[in-house]
Amino acid sequence: MPALTRRTLLKASAATAASFALGAGLAARPGTAAPLTLDARFGAARLVEGGAETRVMTWALSDAPSASGDAPSASGAPPILRMKQGQPFAAKLLNSLDEPTTVHWHGLRIPNAMDGVPEMTQAYVYPGDSFDYAFTPPDAGTFWYHPHCNTLTQMGHGMTGVIVVENPSDPVFDAEIVLNLRDWRLGADGGFIAPFKPRDAARGGTYGTVRTANWQRAPQFEAPAGGLVRLRIAATDVTRIYTVGIDAPAAVLALDSNALTLPSVLETLDLGPGQRADIVVRMPDGEGAIVTLGNLRGSNPWTIATLVARGSSLKRDLREAGALAANPIARPDIAGARRIPLDVTATAEHKAGTSLCGSLGYTFWAINKVPWPGDTPDPIAPLAELKLGQSYVFQIANRTPHAHPIHLHGLTFHVLSSNKRSVLPPPTDTILLQPDEQAELALVADNPGDWMLHCHIIEHQKTGMSSYLRVV
Ligand code: C2O
Ligand code: CU
Repeated sequence: MPALTRRTLLKASAATAASFALGAGLAARPGTAAPLTLDARFGAARLVEGGAETRVMTWALSDAPSASGDAPSASGAPPILRMKQGQPFAAKLLNSLDEPTTVHWHGLRIPNAMDGVPEMTQAYVYPGDSFDYAFTPPDAGTFWYHPHCNTLTQMGHGMTGVIVVENPSDPVFDAEIVLNLRDWRLGADGGFIAPFKPRDAARGGTYGTVRTANWQRAPQFEAPAGGLVRLRIAATDVTRIYTVGIDAPAAVLALDSNALTLPSVLETLDLGPGQRADIVVRMPDGEGAIVTLGNLRGSNPWTIATLVARGSSLKRDLREAGALAANPIARPDIAGARRIPLDVTATAEHKAGTSLCGSLGYTFWAINKVPWPGDTPDPIAPLAELKLGQSYVFQIANRTPHAHPIHLHGLTFHVLSSNKRSVLPPPTDTILLQPDEQAELALVADNPGDWMLHCHIIEHQKTGMSSYLRVV
């Protein structure tokens, strides 16, 4: 077989890609502006094989009559939403639940009015009502969507879905598999148990009892033998931090939707709630050979999903996978930047005030000493007011013995330095702060509005580890 250049790989891949692109068996759709309807509703799902059904919360997709190509998701999981970088996207949220909801498009740098935070960027969408979302994603990559109201319940009960924003010049791989990783807090009867324990909320968070990928336990996907598979992994659990490992040659292409300048060999990778990784895996040559994607965190590693090699080997070389294109993220002017401290701390425990939108009734955490009780219209000021177009450096310090995935809406930041890492990640919207980590995060405040900044361990967010920045 002649040595493959990147160009021949792209050409050769196009034919095989079609039959494997939907390996996850989930819905895909072209990113046109024809509005689709996202119907937030209850559903039934069998999350434990042979077990009872669970009454979940999810979204069903229905298209305008002109659009087509969607397959219903067999598991009942939220559809994968496919968009195209730089092209308009529109969706009507219809609320068929029995409580208010919204959609937040995690990681997308879109106008504030589309950000989906009730009381802050839009009104609640009440049962029976709808809301029209329309925006143009500026960046390509793997993102996700979820409500921003009563989230421990709504996300915990199923409402976390993956978004793929395609760049038309993305390399074509031999297969693409999208994995939505999350847990469920279920009892033996398949019903939901208490969403959290206060003593765990005051520590690392409360874990689920059932672990899934795409709402299945350790699902298996087929991929061409000897082929290069793009895995798009989104960690959408409300609590769990994964340490992902894979027993085949693999390289990281992008983290949190932003490309690494050079794909780097995957050893293990920590992914906190809210984070995503794009990984290319070189499948084994032998028909039937199995690759295992595992969670290596903690003392009992377990299987997240497996890939089984099919067909005669395509004989690809992992090194054929080049870097993905960089997203158009502004470079901050570090020398002229104002510096803002962000202290992530525990706080004296006390009862929180009541909240319309899902307060957990406790306060354990704070940012810059102010605990924010969740999604309430609480009259507290933004943590900082930023001037549109100016550069800022946040000196963030995790003064707790727990890891916290800190997420900023609407803006992407560069990690300039950290006392805990030798390799810095590409620009991101979510940094998994390690215990006692101190880091410098730089950004250009180029998107006006009020942008939430919070821990994505939802129990932490809802018990005080939440705030917002105002860009004017
Ligand atoms: Cu993933 Cu405030 O959001
Ligand atoms: Cu946290």
